[in-house]
Amino acid sequence: MIEINGTDHDRTPRPGQCLRTYLREEGFFGVKKGCDAGDCGACTVHVDGKPVHSCVYPAFRADGHRVTTIEGLGTPDALHPVQQDFLDAQGFQCGFCTAGMIMTSAALSADQREDLPRALKGNLCRCTGYRAVADAISGTCGVTDRGCGVGSSLGAPAGPQVVTGSARFTFDLDVPGLLHLKVLRSPHAHARIVAVDTSAALAVPGVEAVLTHKDAPDRLFSTAQHENEAEDPYDTRVLDEVVRFVGQRVAAVVATSEAAAEEGCRRLIVEYEVLPFVVDPVLAMAPGAPVIHPDKGMEEGIVRAESNVVGELHATLGDPEAGFAAADAVHSATFRTARVQHASLETHGALGWLDDDGRLVLRSSTQTPFLTRRAVARLYDLPQDRVRVVAGRVGGGFGGKQEMLVEDLVALAVLRTGRPVKWEYTRSEQFSGATTRHPFEVTVKAGASSAGELTALQLTVLVNTGAYGNHGPSVMHHGCHETVAVYKCGNIRTDAVTVYTNTVPAGAFRGYGLGQVTFAVEQVLDELARMIGMDPVTFRELNVVRDGDDLTAPGDHVEDLGIASYGLDQCLDHIRLAGAESDAAPEGWLVGEGMAIAMIAAGPPGGHFADASLKALGDGRYELSVGTAEFGNGSTTVFAQIVADELATTPDKVVIRQSDTDVVGHDTGAFASTGVVVAGRAVLRAARSLRTGGDGHGFFDGTPRSVAFNAQWFRVAIDPDTGELRILRSVHSADAGTVMNPAQLRGQIEGGVAQAIGATLSEHVDIADTGEVTTTTFRQYHLPTFADVPRTEVHFADTTDAIGPLGAKSMSESPFNPVAPALGNAIRDAIGVRMTDLPYTADRIWQALQGS
Ligand code: FES
Repeated sequence: MIEINGTDHDRTPRPGQCLRTYLREEGFFGVKKGCDAGDCGACTVHVDGKPVHSCVYPAFRADGHRVTTIEGLGTPDALHPVQQDFLDAQGFQCGFCTAGMIMTSAALSADQREDLPRALKGNLCRCTGYRAVADAISGTCGVTDRGCGVGSSLGAPAGPQVVTGSARFTFDLDVPGLLHLKVLRSPHAHARIVAVDTSAALAVPGVEAVLTHKDAPDRLFSTAQHENEAEDPYDTRVLDEVVRFVGQRVAAVVATSEAAAEEGCRRLIVEYEVLPFVVDPVLAMAPGAPVIHPDKGMEEGIVRAESNVVGELHATLGDPEAGFAAADAVHSATFRTARVQHASLETHGALGWLDDDGRLVLRSSTQTPFLTRRAVARLYDLPQDRVRVVAGRVGGGFGGKQEMLVEDLVALAVLRTGRPVKWEYTRSEQFSGATTRHPFEVTVKAGASSAGELTALQLTVLVNTGAYGNHGPSVMHHGCHETVAVYKCGNIRTDAVTVYTNTVPAGAFRGYGLGQVTFAVEQVLDELARMIGMDPVTFRELNVVRDGDDLTAPGDHVEDLGIASYGLDQCLDHIRLAGAESDAAPEGWLVGEGMAIAMIAAGPPGGHFADASLKALGDGRYELSVGTAEFGNGSTTVFAQIVADELATTPDKVVIRQSDTDVVGHDTGAFASTGVVVAGRAVLRAARSLRTGGDGHGFFDGTPRSVAFNAQWFRVAIDPDTGELRILRSVHSADAGTVMNPAQLRGQIEGGVAQAIGATLSEHVDIADTGEVTTTTFRQYHLPTFADVPRTEVHFADTTDAIGPLGAKSMSESPFNPVAPALGNAIRDAIGVRMTDLPYTADRIWQALQGS
C-alpha cells in the first residue's frame, strides 16, 4: 500500500518498476520524465517529506510510506508558498522542470536556502538560466498584476497549471488501449540491411507488430520542417534499407507494454552488409571517400552527392583582394565549434490514434504542427484534412522540434495496427537518435586600416551535417549572412560547404548557424582591433551598419530584409559602460574582459505564415485561436497582452487555443524567432479586425523582415594552476524593439546566455571513430547546473520597430550568438592565448596556458 497525496494506492508495482512510472500510471502526470537516470530532477517527489528522484527510486520501497507529488503539495485554491513564489517570480519558461524544482525547493531547510548552488545541484533547467528560479526561492516577485497589457511583466497564462502540475505536456494523457513503440537502432555507421528475421520478436507476448523498411513507404522526405520545402534535401525514408549512422532506425516493434516492445527489439535478427563509412567532413569530400547518398542528386536537393556535398555557397562582394591589399593589419585564424545537443527536458515523442471519424490524430512535442501534418499526409497519401496534429504544452524546443523525428513512424504504426500508439524517446536516444547543433570549422581572414576601417573579410566555412541534410544548407547560408551583413565592409568573399558524414544528423538549433560563424568572426575582429591598438567597442562602432544601411552578404539577395529600427548603438553604449564593478577575482588568478555583437533576422527568407482568429464569447471573454505552440518562448503571454490592449480588456479575459491543426488556418510554426513578430502580428490583425466589426481573422506572411541586435560582455578570472574559469560579471544588451513583457524577455535572454555558456565551457557530444555517440546521459554531457550560471545583467535598447507588432522585434534565438566569442575574447585578454576550439574546458584552458 502506497499513500499518495493522502490516498492509499494498493496496486502492486511491477518487478523492477521505478516510482516515477508507478506514479504516472496512477495518474500523477505532474511527475515528469527527463532522464530516468537521477540526473535532472524533473521527477522529484517527496517520500515521507524528503525529496527523491522518483526515476531511480524503486516503487516497492514506497510501500508503507507517504508519497507527495506536485499535485498534493497545494491546490489551485490554496497554493503551497513555494508554488506561489514560482508563480510570482515566473520561475519557469517551458515549465517541464518546474514541478521537480518546486518539490525540491519546498523541502529546503533555511541553511540549504543559503546555498542554492549546492541545494539545487540535482535539478536541471534548460530554459531559464536559473536566475528566475533563484528569485522564486528567495521570494522575489517578478511579474505584475494579471490585468496588465503590453509593456507589463504579465505572468504566463498557464502559470497556475505549471506550478500545480496540471499543465498537460505531450504524454500527460490517459489513452486507453495504448500500444508502445520502440526502435532497434543501427550498430553500424553505414550498412545495407540484407534481411530482418522478425519471427522471434513477433513471438514475444504482447508484441502486436514489427515494422521494417518493407512496411514503410519508399518515399523520400526531409525531417526538417520549413514553409519553403525546397530549403532541405529530400534524403530520408521512414525506414530505409540503408543505414547511414550509428543510431539510425532499423525496425520498430509495437507492443502492449514498453518492456515487451524492448524485448521484441532485442529479439530481432538483422543481417547487415557493412559498408565503408566516413565521420570526418574533410575526408568525406576527398576523392575516393565513401559516398553516403549515391542514389540521389540535384533532384533531391543535393548539389554534389558524389562528393558528399549537400549545399555550398561561393560568392564575392566587392573586391576582397584589393581590400586586403589596402589593409594595415590582416589577421586570419581557424575556429571549430563543438557538437552540442538541445537537451530540452521533455524528450521527443508523439502519441497517435484514429478518431471516431477514422482520421489520424497525432499529439506531438513539436514546434511545427501544420508542417508536420503536411509531411505525414504526403508520406501516406492522405488528404491533409484526414490528419490532425496537435501539440500540448511542449517541454522545450530550441529548434530541435522543428523536425519530424517521431510522427512519421508513429503514424505508420497507427495506420498498420489501427490502435493508439505512443513513442517517447529515452534520454539516450535523444543524444544518439535526435539532432545536434551543426559542428562548424570556420576560417576568417580580416583586414583593417590603422584608422579602424574594416577593409576586407573572407570566410571559409565547413559544415558537418551528419548523415542527413535536414537544415544543413540553410544553416550554412544563415550562418554566413547576418554575421558579416552587420558590418559595412564592402569587400567580402565567402566559400562554404555543407558535407554529409556517417554521424548523427545535425539540425536546427537556437541561432541557426549564426552562433558558429559569429564565434569566429567576432574573435578575429577582436584580434584585429588589438593589432591596430583600438578598443574593441570603438572598432565595432566604426564598422557596424547604421540605420538606413542596406544589409548585404555575398551570394544572398534578401530583398525582404532591412533595418526597421536601430538600437545597436545603444547596445554598444551599454557594453561600453559595463565594466566598473564585479566580484573580486581570487588572488593570483588571471583576469580578462571581452565583448562581441550579433545581428539576427526574424524568420527565414522563404516565407513564414501565421494565422489567428478571435471571437467574443459573449461573457466579456474572447477566444483566440492561433497556430503556434507554446514551449516556454512566452509568445502566448504576449498574444494575450496584444489582444487585451487592442480590445481594451484584460489578458485574463483572453482564452487561448493553440497549436492544433483543427482550430486555426495554416501556421508555419514557432521557430526562426517568429513567435512574437510573425504570429503576434497575425494576432494584432485579428484583434483589430474584431474591434472594427470584422471577422476577427488575422494573417501575416512574415515579410518584410526586420533585424534585432545583441551585445555581450564578460569579465572572467582564470586559475593559472588549473585552468578553472569563473565569470565575474556578465552583461547583455538587446535591441528587441518594443519590450512587450520585460520579465519574460529578460528570462529569455538569460536562458539564451546560459545555454551558450554551457555550449562554450562544458557541453560536448562525443563521437567515437566508429561514428557512435558515446555521450548518452546528462551526467556525461555536463549541462550547466545552478552553480555554473552567473547572473547576467540585462539591458534593453529603446527602439520601436516599423514591422513587428506594436514595435516589437524578435529575440528568442539571438542572445545565444555573441556569448561564445565574448568569452573567447575575455579568455584571450586574461591568458594571452587565442583559443580556437570549443568547448573551453578547464583542461583545455590549462593546456593553452602551458603553451603560452
Ligand atoms: Fe526549466 Fe524549461 S523551464 S526546463
